[in-house]
Amino acid sequence: MTSAAPPADTLANALSRIRPDVRAMHSYVVQPSTGMLKMDAMENPFTLPEALQAALGPRLGALALNRYPGARQNDLRAALKAYAGAPTDYDVVLGNGSDELITLLALACAQPGTGHRATMLAPMPGFVMYPMSAQLQGLDFVGVPLTPDFELDEPAMLAAIAQHQPAITYIAYPNNPTATLWDEGAVQRIIDAVGAQGGIVAVDEAYQPFASRTWLTRMQAEPARNAHVLLMRTLSKFGLAGVRLGYMLGQPALVAEIDKVRPPYNVSVLNCEAALFALEHADVFAAQAAELRAQRTVLIDALRAMPGIEKVWDSEANMVLVRVADAGKTYEGMKTRKVLIKNVSTMHPLLHNCLRLTVGNAQDNATMLAALQASL
Ligand SMILES: Cc1ncc(COP(=O)(O)O)c(C=O)c1O
Repeated sequence: MTSAAPPADTLANALSRIRPDVRAMHSYVVQPSTGMLKMDAMENPFTLPEALQAALGPRLGALALNRYPGARQNDLRAALKAYAGAPTDYDVVLGNGSDELITLLALACAQPGTGHRATMLAPMPGFVMYPMSAQLQGLDFVGVPLTPDFELDEPAMLAAIAQHQPAITYIAYPNNPTATLWDEGAVQRIIDAVGAQGGIVAVDEAYQPFASRTWLTRMQAEPARNAHVLLMRTLSKFGLAGVRLGYMLGQPALVAEIDKVRPPYNVSVLNCEAALFALEHADVFAAQAAELRAQRTVLIDALRAMPGIEKVWDSEANMVLVRVADAGKTYEGMKTRKVLIKNVSTMHPLLHNCLRLTVGNAQDNATMLAALQASL
């Protein structure tokens, strides 16, 4: 006997069960990049040196892929703590990229069914995943505009913290897409204000390999004052964007709560072993970061000398933000010339006519500059 054909509207009915705000959303767009020079996502341009490729292959091949990830994750947590130079009494939670940690933090702080909506606060323009995680996990999001030169508006931040009593305050240190590393004193006063009203601060150091300061120094100097701070890092900009490994350091009691909402096997045995391997060769990646920091200076100088570029901001990350006369036209012109950058001009009013360029190696930067000049 054959079962009856489903009614024609089953699919429509199924779709109607999806949250209206999710249905109204667009998926995160990864720009198609085949055949293009990819300068849109702050990836490290260097592939793994051949000797390291040869050593990593057998090591990954020999893993017990038939088993769920296990205690090896503890080795990685210890190695990350040592690499970061974190205080020994700090704990670490691992994420499938720091994107996942951003989701987990929102999930841990949301208050479903309590009649109270938790709030997330961040300076804007900032990283898009903060407001997205708030929306998806049911937190209110408060974006506090930066100054027109992308510095923290400290009075506005302090006022917003007092008014909204955020559960989570994000400080991207340095910030994406502006590449700014904000004043240490201002950041500490914001952290103090969040602490005084009983909130968590997530200091997101995705771009730490390219920055002149880390908040870890402040956490080590004044642990009690920064006890409510979670320091988020990733191996993506370090050189392993494809591996997907983020980590968050902080006081064990706070880290333990976030760990409760982490899917138990979120970091695969392959991610874990590749990350351990990379940390054993951290000197190779440190040399790459040093080269990129040097190339950043060359790139910024060239951009500042280029007619038609209206403004080039200083950078403490592997990206440079520029303002041009017509961002849409320049972006499309570069795309035609097979160079992919990020047009951030519609992300926030302060980013009017702004483009974000990744800092690459000397050759990639030269190709990008030539395409940019031709597209202005
Ligand atoms: C500020 C910031 N935080 C976090 C991330 C996420 O990094 P990942 O998920 O690759 O670890 C990014 C990625 O661009 C970022 O710019």
